[in-house]
Amino acid sequence: MIKTAIFGATGYAGAELIKILSSHTEVDIIFAASKTYAGKSLNSIHPHAPDILLQDTEKANLQQADLVFLCLPSSSGMHIAVDALKGGAKVIDLSADFRLDDAAKYMNWYGTTHLAPELLADAVYGLSEANRSKLKNAQLVANPGCYPTSVLLPIWPIIINSIFDDNRPIIVDSKSGVSGAGRSPKQHLHFVEVSGNFQPYKIGRVHRHVPEMEQQLANWDPSIPELIFTPHLLPVPRGILSTIYLPIKKGNREDSIRAMLRETYSNEPFIKLLPSNQNVSLAHVLHSNTCAFGMNLTGNTLIITSAIDNLVKGAAGQAVQNMNIIYGITETCGLT
Ligand SMILES: NC(=O)c1ccc[n+]([C@@H]2O[C@H](COP(=O)([O-])OP(=O)(O)OC[C@H]3O[C@@H](n4cnc5c(N)ncnc54)[C@H](OP(=O)(O)O)[C@@H]3O)[C@@H](O)[C@H]2O)c1
Repeated sequence: MIKTAIFGATGYAGAELIKILSSHTEVDIIFAASKTYAGKSLNSIHPHAPDILLQDTEKANLQQADLVFLCLPSSSGMHIAVDALKGGAKVIDLSADFRLDDAAKYMNWYGTTHLAPELLADAVYGLSEANRSKLKNAQLVANPGCYPTSVLLPIWPIIINSIFDDNRPIIVDSKSGVSGAGRSPKQHLHFVEVSGNFQPYKIGRVHRHVPEMEQQLANWDPSIPELIFTPHLLPVPRGILSTIYLPIKKGNREDSIRAMLRETYSNEPFIKLLPSNQNVSLAHVLHSNTCAFGMNLTGNTLIITSAIDNLVKGAAGQAVQNMNIIYGITETCGLT
């Protein structure tokens, strides 16, 4: 059994992770930690959660853990990652702390000094389907952001096959349910502000997921064009739907692109390419680890519409998928 420890257990991603791990046949949860609710049961905060006594984040003993999941806000769990790795445990970090490969870039986007820049080169970006071979030997996994997961998975085969047109930008419009912003109360997330409303935020190239996506795209093909990304706050609890406008070189046909995508993903249990007569919706993916997407070629622009559950494939589910890959467990274990 894999002995796991979870930090940030009371957050949306942490609680979802514990729900999944509780029914995973190869996992023991040795502790779940909280700063605010130490001494209470997780189900006193999340009624649907298992009855797990929360330990104090600062006093939790890392030594018994084989694998530590960090479900903390970015910049607050780096010291725990360092201690866990020193003690011989593996780490899957759901925050952004190990996603960017450069400490200066991290400072620029997250406004704080990186505590462990020496670990950045070895952290494996946990986009499961694309990075499976690297994940098998990973000590430290940087679990991807939710928006990047919804965008990168459907376009990965197109980027590595170099059929995109690098003279035009990639444009992405993403819409996320409110749990994407985490559990801490903020005025713009109040029910009255969100319900019946719909708005963009961080328009263009200012959201923190832009450098994360551009870095990954450039790793696949350095000639990748600029990314323009506008997220929106959708008045639903969970789910992301991204519309991606991908410029394609002249001469590529819709049926050949569809065949390429189908071939790449034919054996992937969590990727669902929809037939041309079906439009994707949140209902295709909610509470599942699936990324479902459709595609249409309009002129020389491929329009991909992609949906995930931000808390599952966009966070906890992908983290468990990565754990399964690392430990050589059937990849769907705990996730179907
Ligand atoms: N929500 C999503 O859809 C999503 C998707 C992908 C990735 N992520 C990433 O996953 C991480 C967790 O996200 P979330 O949405 O679950 O956030 P969240 O709901 O705000 O939960 C984070 C938890 O961390 C603990 N915490 C807060 N500040 C802390 C600090 N300074 N030091 C130690 N612990 C602290 C809190 O629990 P206690 O007070 O009980 O300790 C809190 O419940 C974030 O880095 C986020 O960017 C989230």
